Amino acid sequence: MIDDTCINRMIALAKEACSKAYCPYSKFPVGAAVLSASGEIFTGCNVENASYGLTICAERNAIFHACCNGMKRLAVLVLYTPTETPTAPCGACRQVINEFGENARIFCVCDSSATIDTSLSDLLPISFGPHNLTS
Ligand code: THU
Repeated sequence: MIDDTCINRMIALAKEACSKAYCPYSKFPVGAAVLSASGEIFTGCNVENASYGLTICAERNAIFHACCNGMKRLAVLVLYTPTETPTAPCGACRQVINEFGENARIFCVCDSSATIDTSLSDLLPISFGPHNLTS
């Protein structure tokens, strides 16, 4: 299921989401696509706010969008930025990804051929998560 065709589709959707980013303050657009364990793809972009602190990252927007549509487990997250180097998810987003996919594949792409192909467990080792609250 997670073959190159799927990843390429996710990259295209993350780029499309990035084009919708609302980032008048940072001027740093970000797009994300998440693949649920059941094979559905959901997208998100960053949405900033004049209060700054209420800004939501693209990854969390995509995950909350997916959750609202029934996602239980997150298998892959693709992050796109229109930059020369790929951008890795921020710390807050790593924690939110962990909630749904502690072993998720994280694939970060940009406008050069440079990529980050990693896993959430590498980005957030020894995590606090749902397992700590269930017996
Ligand atoms: N941003 C994301 O959307 N995801 C990240 O992982 C890093 C940061 C956004 C938030 C803000 O709108 C802009 O990028 C600059 O920080």
